[in-house]
Amino acid sequence: MRAIVFCTTCRFSDKEKVNADGITGGEMLAREMETLLADEGREDIYVERQECLWSCSEHCNVLLRDTEKFSYLTGRFAPERESAQSLLEWFDMHGESKEGAVSFRQWPDGMRGHFIARLPPETR
Ligand code: FES
Repeated sequence: MRAIVFCTTCRFSDKEKVNADGITGGEMLAREMETLLADEGREDIYVERQECLWSCSEHCNVLLRDTEKFSYLTGRFAPERESAQSLLEWFDMHGESKEGAVSFRQWPDGMRGHFIARLPPETR
């Protein structure tokens, strides 16, 4: 199962928790991803939401989760469409790989400097 999990409580910016409409950065980014997936007619990846991924200083945080391969905690994303595009582009390459390892050379620029942790797949 492949899912992109967004921290819904991540800040809008260093100075502000929410935007002018009262929406957190994490929720904004989740909505950007949902719009992107809908625009591309994609139904193969789930968007999930979680309050706090315990990496609050690195907002916005996103977990790229795969039960069969390595998963990755990523962060430091602006709540913008470009961030969603980079995340999806990288996660698609991850999905095509055997174990969830993507060659650094292939990484979109928007993913460089955004990885926080690599989490092993379930083994049982
Ligand atoms: S508020 Fe997003 S990781 Fe804690």
